[in-house]
Amino acid sequence: MRTDTGQLFRLEDYRPTDYLIPQTSLTFDLHPERTIVRAVLSVERREGVSASQPLVLDGDDLKLVGLTVNGALLGDNGYRATPERLEIAELPAEDRFTVEIVTEINPTTNRQLMGLYRSSGVYCTQCEAEGFRRITYFLDRPDVLSVYTVRIEASKAEAPVLLSNGNPMEAGDLAGGRHFAVWHDPHPKPSYLFALVAGDLGSIRDSFTTRSGTKVDLAIYVEDGKEPRALYAMDALKRSMQWDEEVFGREYDLDVFNVVAVSDFNMGAMENKGLNVFNDKYVLADAETATDTDYAGIEAVIAHEYFHNWTGNRITCRDWFQLCLKEGLTVFRDHEFSADQRSRAVKRIAEVKTLKAHQFPEDAGPLAHPVRPRQYREINNFYTATVYEKGSEVVRMIRTILGPDLFRKGMDLYFERHDGEAATIEDFVKAFEDASGRDLSQFALWYEQAGTPNLSVSYDYDPAEKTFTIELEQSLKATPGQSRKKPMHIPIEFGLIGSDGKDITPASATGAEVTGDVIHLRQRKEKVRFTGIGERPVPSLLRGFSAPVTLASELPHEDLIFLALNDSDPVGRWQALTKLLTGALIAGVKQVRGGKPPVIDADIVNLVGEIAANETLDAAFRALCLTPPGESDIAREIGDNIDPDAVLASREALIKAIAEAHRQAFAALYDKLANTGTFSPDAESAGRRALRNCLLDYLSVAEADPSHATAQFRAADNMTDRAAALGVLVHRFGDSDSAREALGAFEERFGGDPLVMDKWFMVQATRPGAAALDRVRALMSHRLFSLDNPNRTRALIGLFATANQTGFNRADGAAYDFFADMILKIDRENPQLAARLLTALRSWRSLEPVRREHARAALARIAATEKLSTDVKDIVERTLG
Ligand code: TRP
Ligand code: ZN
Repeated sequence: MRTDTGQLFRLEDYRPTDYLIPQTSLTFDLHPERTIVRAVLSVERREGVSASQPLVLDGDDLKLVGLTVNGALLGDNGYRATPERLEIAELPAEDRFTVEIVTEINPTTNRQLMGLYRSSGVYCTQCEAEGFRRITYFLDRPDVLSVYTVRIEASKAEAPVLLSNGNPMEAGDLAGGRHFAVWHDPHPKPSYLFALVAGDLGSIRDSFTTRSGTKVDLAIYVEDGKEPRALYAMDALKRSMQWDEEVFGREYDLDVFNVVAVSDFNMGAMENKGLNVFNDKYVLADAETATDTDYAGIEAVIAHEYFHNWTGNRITCRDWFQLCLKEGLTVFRDHEFSADQRSRAVKRIAEVKTLKAHQFPEDAGPLAHPVRPRQYREINNFYTATVYEKGSEVVRMIRTILGPDLFRKGMDLYFERHDGEAATIEDFVKAFEDASGRDLSQFALWYEQAGTPNLSVSYDYDPAEKTFTIELEQSLKATPGQSRKKPMHIPIEFGLIGSDGKDITPASATGAEVTGDVIHLRQRKEKVRFTGIGERPVPSLLRGFSAPVTLASELPHEDLIFLALNDSDPVGRWQALTKLLTGALIAGVKQVRGGKPPVIDADIVNLVGEIAANETLDAAFRALCLTPPGESDIAREIGDNIDPDAVLASREALIKAIAEAHRQAFAALYDKLANTGTFSPDAESAGRRALRNCLLDYLSVAEADPSHATAQFRAADNMTDRAAALGVLVHRFGDSDSAREALGAFEERFGGDPLVMDKWFMVQATRPGAAALDRVRALMSHRLFSLDNPNRTRALIGLFATANQTGFNRADGAAYDFFADMILKIDRENPQLAARLLTALRSWRSLEPVRREHARAALARIAATEKLSTDVKDIVERTLG
């Protein structure tokens, strides 16, 4: 494990390398504990660089066993090798030469899951961001592009399947029960996109013919026997390939495209050129084992990794500060894909919920950083919601500002100009400026300034003048390392709604710039005055959630109810309803903390009933409206001095009031929505299940009885309905025999499948209340649990820390202590996983004083531990600030 070197990397220090490596040829002699890697690098000295400049290559935990330059051994002073670095000083005078490096690595003991490791006996690699240097010494940075040829040799019995990037060239048998395969990738790529997989894997195959007529062979490799569970991923892959041609004009560029599912993986998946490697959670699905959420996740991640082929691989990043260049853009592309495949409005609301749940707290806490960070100690810690999700919002805003046609023109120009290059955010923004003739320099501040801007809005209607004036003010709080902030260019989609529910078209607009239905706020404070407005309109601002900001508007209760029922924009409707529910829930928290039972607002209870009953609305949309803001959403809106027990009490009181008021109607609707026919994962069926499962929870609360849930659990013919019923049983009736029996039945049925059992761990980890800690501790001894596997660890420890507000934030701090122990333990094996889990404590300062002090003490204990990884040290130090 790499321990902290204290080095800080800064954007302003970027400098191109002295040497290039236009070609790389690798030979792997695979053995479980002693793999030999021979790397032949064709090296080129850049013009103007002196031959006395040494070639300095990156390494991590490497053992050098051989080195030649132009075929000759070097003198003792000719080079210096440490596990972290190979410096070659004795170099030829010519500007081109060959360096051959032999290293020895151990894939079996590699538990960091970076570099070459083994997962359930399968050899696989993960090189982003800096894993390639754990395989061989290299210029391991994204602006060094090389053409790779890879030869893999392995035992035929152990690894019948041998894969790498690009196209297959040659394969055959060797002596001693071994065989080999050669792969060649004609597209120059950075080392982080290198991949190798070797093992005994099953596969499904298909093909896709590009619009210019090239047939591409597609394969998805999975654990033997699980092939049928890869069919949905294959379908999603073909739809992604088709969509990228239709919507972005982008075609695939190799003869083969391979996807491999592995069970030990730190993140969701990886876009290695022509050989995407996936966490099996994002490949494997069938009705029996996967929920509708799992299906949607697979579709999104398959698309995301495929789309990286153009946004990430063909055009890559100059340096890791530009990470959002590929990630934000590719998230935007996968969002658009899912919106086109499913319901656009429902998809957008889901995105807004995710952004607010993950990115807003990041931006409001000690880990806040700009979409393009200016400095880092550990790049692994910058694969964040800000870089990915806010990065995607920034791209979406560019489209909102330019409109779809100029946006597409800008994208085309970006692809045309930078194909085959390692680009920057400046290059990206410039393409849109040049395509549209618009000045985006103020807009580019979205990449530079951390924090969520607040928009405060007031309205004035003048009946005599028939004018409606909106006054807007933006503000942005200080974030770590940034105190003074400049006003940003914020695109605000809007509508002015008349009493008939229809949008009013203003005669003219003066003040802030208005183009179509977008107000462009650029000053700190600006007014916009609309004329020709015959009645006082209800304004709907931030339609489609057109900018990642918080909105403080002085709209009265009745207007919010009106918007929740009438806004032509479903996202606007949902936003208005959420605002009402959040207000009611926060009022309830105050009442609980004042020792009183929460008073429930009858208007809100009725409103929810009205939306549930409105069959003209999408079932999935109604399900979103029927789910009140979660405990962490409420906590985020309160902002400080949080008491999670009071938050839970307030939320439960509202749910109970809604459940009791609409008991009959909900029961009838629940029955009406019952399954018919065979299972289909399509969006409409999934929406119906989502709504029905929402109603199941309300019904169970109203009846104070588990029988509806038990009946559904037993009758379920798919995992969505089964897992939802289990959730109700465990969370609402956890001590009952019904819950115990259901957990037992689930374990009996799925105990052979760790991936499915993650749902069983999760449902128990998230059962509210202080007793959760003991349950989590006990579950750690379950035969399927292992801290070595990231999916298991996230299901139990991760969900406990992020999705069990009352259980994790126990008033006595015992769960923080347990959590700190786990972080320290995991850090010794897998620093990346430990650091990511630890971000669960990022909002510790918003807790009430007693819990806050316990959390601080647990963080301080981690910080004071010796031999922390760079990853954990960086997170804990920034969190304590
Ligand atoms: N680039 C990958 C994606 O977003 C994610 C990724 C980055 C990753 N670093 C990783 C995956 C490390 C696994 C391990 O598509
Ligand atoms: Zn990505």
